[in-house]
Amino acid sequence: MTGFIVVVAFIIIAIAYKDVKAQENVNDIIPKPLSFEKGVGEFNITNDTSIYIKGKTEKETDEINKVAEFIKGKLQPSTGFEFKIIKSDNPPEGNIYLTTIGGEEVQGDEGYKIITDNQGIKIISFKPEGISRGVQTLRQLLPSDIEKATVVSNIKWTVPISTIDDKPEYSYRGLMIDVARHFFTEDEVKRQIDLAAQYKINRVHLHLSDDQGWRLEIKKYPDLTLIGGSTEVGGGQGGYYTQEQFKEIVEYAKDRYVEIIPEFDMPGHTNAALASYGFLNPDGERKPLYTGTNVGFSSFMTHDEKTYEFIDDVIKEVSEISPSKYFHIGGDEAEATPKADYDYFVGRVAKIAEKYGKTPIGWDPIDTSPEINSSVILQNWKDSNEAARKKNMKMIISIASKAYLDMKYNESTPYGSDWAGYIPVETAYNWDPTDFAPKNLVLGIEAPLWTENISTQDQMDYMIYPRLLGYAEIGWTPKEERNWSEYKVRLQKQGERMMNEEINYYKDPTIWSN
Ligand code: ACM
Repeated sequence: MTGFIVVVAFIIIAIAYKDVKAQENVNDIIPKPLSFEKGVGEFNITNDTSIYIKGKTEKETDEINKVAEFIKGKLQPSTGFEFKIIKSDNPPEGNIYLTTIGGEEVQGDEGYKIITDNQGIKIISFKPEGISRGVQTLRQLLPSDIEKATVVSNIKWTVPISTIDDKPEYSYRGLMIDVARHFFTEDEVKRQIDLAAQYKINRVHLHLSDDQGWRLEIKKYPDLTLIGGSTEVGGGQGGYYTQEQFKEIVEYAKDRYVEIIPEFDMPGHTNAALASYGFLNPDGERKPLYTGTNVGFSSFMTHDEKTYEFIDDVIKEVSEISPSKYFHIGGDEAEATPKADYDYFVGRVAKIAEKYGKTPIGWDPIDTSPEINSSVILQNWKDSNEAARKKNMKMIISIASKAYLDMKYNESTPYGSDWAGYIPVETAYNWDPTDFAPKNLVLGIEAPLWTENISTQDQMDYMIYPRLLGYAEIGWTPKEERNWSEYKVRLQKQGERMMNEEINYYKDPTIWSN
């Protein structure tokens, strides 16, 4: 009898231990889901697995179909499986089912549930957007070989039996890429959008103009790109996006439920525009192009109607090809613009953006202009937002010493800057937007990559990864659910996925020791 009890006890302990072990190996998802309940066993995706889809309406089914095409495209290269997409709300055993039927309003736009049992995988959300976030999680539930670009054989494509119930803390989780200081091609930008979307980044802000370059075709002012787009920092050949290319970037992002936010920085950071058209300058002459890295020397004329006609034309053209409800008007480091003129200028430009149906965003100190009110969103990069707080302006938190992706990790980082200090991976993770602003005013978080000292895709990858995973989690997962020592283990496991995706991430030796 005693022997029997010992054996039973041993079996119970062994099962429990196995489960704990398995659990440790399973929830390495980033950003961490709100709730993850693991069962026993796993469901296997096989060559017979199809993707069933059904929305509450035909329109939703069509939208879910696009999400199904997206995830099929991600799962096919490594599995080599066909993944038929079938419109039906009655999936037989052994399949993946994506649906909004039974989705609940509390899930909001982006929430989703993934129920995996012996029969299959079901992702339910209130909106198709939620399913798009859910399929990104599904990728991380599969072995990391799923991210390989060629067929992997001799592997079981397992998904642990589990229930995930998830939704984001903040609705705005952004990455900014400065394509003005150094130009990056349409394909390079698309690649970054695709990589960021897997961590549920849902906004990509493109800094499209600065002293060194103007990067979007404006049909009424062709010299903006022919002259203003002809170079970059260091004197390289620069480049620009045609409006067609910009629309393609927007579409590509939309397929991943990522919104592209265009920025034209003004009244400072405008030398490329001033070099393109003489009428924008007091003497009527074009300024020389600039390929250095100084800031704060250029300014639009703030009391000349020609300036405002020009800006109106630009915002009108861009608004027609940019579906985002936001339009970023810059507003930083306007040191060559007297403060009273700055205040007047940003007020007028915000109104032009509003006239074209857009919500303006501006860097601080835009909030200090008496002409700016709570209809404008502050992108807070310095630790000062008193005016914004008083005016109840919503904020995107991008504090330079925490969130700037161009800051070096440490003294031996080969590129990037250090004016806001070093930002090691832990520093990048260990903060919360509410350290800088009251929660009710926080729209979300954005991590900007300025590119004065970054000129290649490899360098871009190195500065963005792995820090972007931390920013994605800060934006998605509530503060109380996050801590560095636990996150670090999950991040370590993500290394293999990033490697399989050929991301040139910084292999921080305190995280990846070998
Ligand atoms: C900024 O870093 N100048 C917004």
